Amino acid sequence: MYKAIIKGMGMYVPEKVLTNHDLEKMVETNDEWITTRTGIKERRIAAPNESTSDLATRAARQAMEKAGVKPEDIDMVIVATITPDYIFPATAALVQNALGLPHAGTVDIEAACSGFIYALSMANAYVVSGMYKNILVIGAETLSRITDWTDRTTCILFGDGAGAAVVSRTEATDTSGFIGFSLGGDGSYADLLWVPAGGSKNPASHETVDNRLHYMKMNGNATFKVAVRTMAEALESILKEHHIDPGEVKLIVPHQANLRIISAIAERLGIGEERVMVNLQKYGNTSSATIPMALYEAIEEGRVKKGDLVAMVAFGGGFTWGAGLLRL
Ligand SMILES: CC(C)(COP(=O)(O)OP(=O)(O)OC[C@H]1O[C@@H](n2cnc3c(N)ncnc32)[C@H](O)[C@@H]1OP(=O)(O)O)[C@@H](O)C(=O)NCCC(=O)NCCS
Repeated sequence: MYKAIIKGMGMYVPEKVLTNHDLEKMVETNDEWITTRTGIKERRIAAPNESTSDLATRAARQAMEKAGVKPEDIDMVIVATITPDYIFPATAALVQNALGLPHAGTVDIEAACSGFIYALSMANAYVVSGMYKNILVIGAETLSRITDWTDRTTCILFGDGAGAAVVSRTEATDTSGFIGFSLGGDGSYADLLWVPAGGSKNPASHETVDNRLHYMKMNGNATFKVAVRTMAEALESILKEHHIDPGEVKLIVPHQANLRIISAIAERLGIGEERVMVNLQKYGNTSSATIPMALYEAIEEGRVKKGDLVAMVAFGGGFTWGAGLLRL
C-alpha cells in the first residue's frame, strides 16, 4: 500500500465579474436579497470563446507548476464536470491534448457538485493501489452556459471557474496524505436539481429548446434541507470512522453553495467560523470547482499549512454527497 498526497494546486476564474447589482438589471432581484439568502456578492462568467476545457487547462497548468511535475509524469487526468465541452469526447481528453501529456489516460466523471471529492477518491485509490504515481484531478465548470438567465431562483447562485490538484504517491514517512473518503448518493432526488433535456431521455429538439429544458432546474427549498443533513452526516461519519474529534480539524472546506448551508453544518458540528473556509461571496456556486478553488485559496492565504488536518465536504445533483479527510 502506498500513500497519496496533494503535491500542488491551481485555480483559474474568468475575468468577467457579474455582481448582484448587475443581476438587478437582468431579473427581479436585489443585492440585499441575494446577500442575506446566499452570502454571494459576485460570480465570474466565462468569455464567449472560453469553454470548460480552457478553464480546466489553466488551473491544471498551475497545479503542475506548483507540484513540480512535467507533462510526461502525469499518468491520468480526471475531470469532474457537469458542463463538459461536448457530450463526448471527454473534457479530460481535451485537457490532455492542450497540456501535451504524452502518457495520460483521460476520463470525465459526473457527480455534480460532489464531483471533485469523488475524483479525488478515485485518484487516491489509483495511487494507493500502486497503479499510478501522479494524477491530475480537476473540477471545472462553465455553469453560465446551463443557467437560465431569466430564472431568478437559480441564476443568482451559479458561476464559472476551475480548480486542480496533482495527486501523487509519496515516499515520505510523515503523516501527510489522504486519510479517507465517505461517498453517498440517492437518485430518488434526481429531478430536484437537474438539466432535463439534451441527453438520451429527452434529446435536443425544437420543443425542448422552446421549453428551456436545457437549463438547470432546481427545487431550492428541498435541496437546501437535504444538503444540510447529508453534508453534516457525511462529515460526522468520516470523523467517527477515523476516530478524529471535530476539534482536531484545522479547516473545513465545504462545497460553496450557500452561506446558510455552510453555517448550519458548522453549527451542527460545533465548529467556529474561523475554522470554515468561505469564498462563495466572490465566485458563487461553481459546482465541482468550489472545493479545489477554496482549498487552493486557503493554502495561498496561509489558513492551512503542512501538517494541518483538512476536512472537505460536498453535496450536489443526483443527489450525491461526499467527504474527504486530508493531512497536508
Ligand atoms: C435558492 C435559495 C437561496 C432560496 O432561498 P429561500 O430562503 O429558500 O427562498 P424561497 O425559495 O423560499 O423564496 C422566498 C421568496 O423569495 C422569492 N425569490 C426567489 N428568488 C428570488 C430572487 N433571486 N430575488 C428576490 N426574490 C426571490 C421567492 O419567489 C419567494 O417569494 P414568495 O414568498 O413571494 O413566494 C435557497 O433555497 C437555497 O439556497 N437552496 C439550496 C440551493 C443550492 O445550494 N443548490 C445547489 C446545491 S449543490
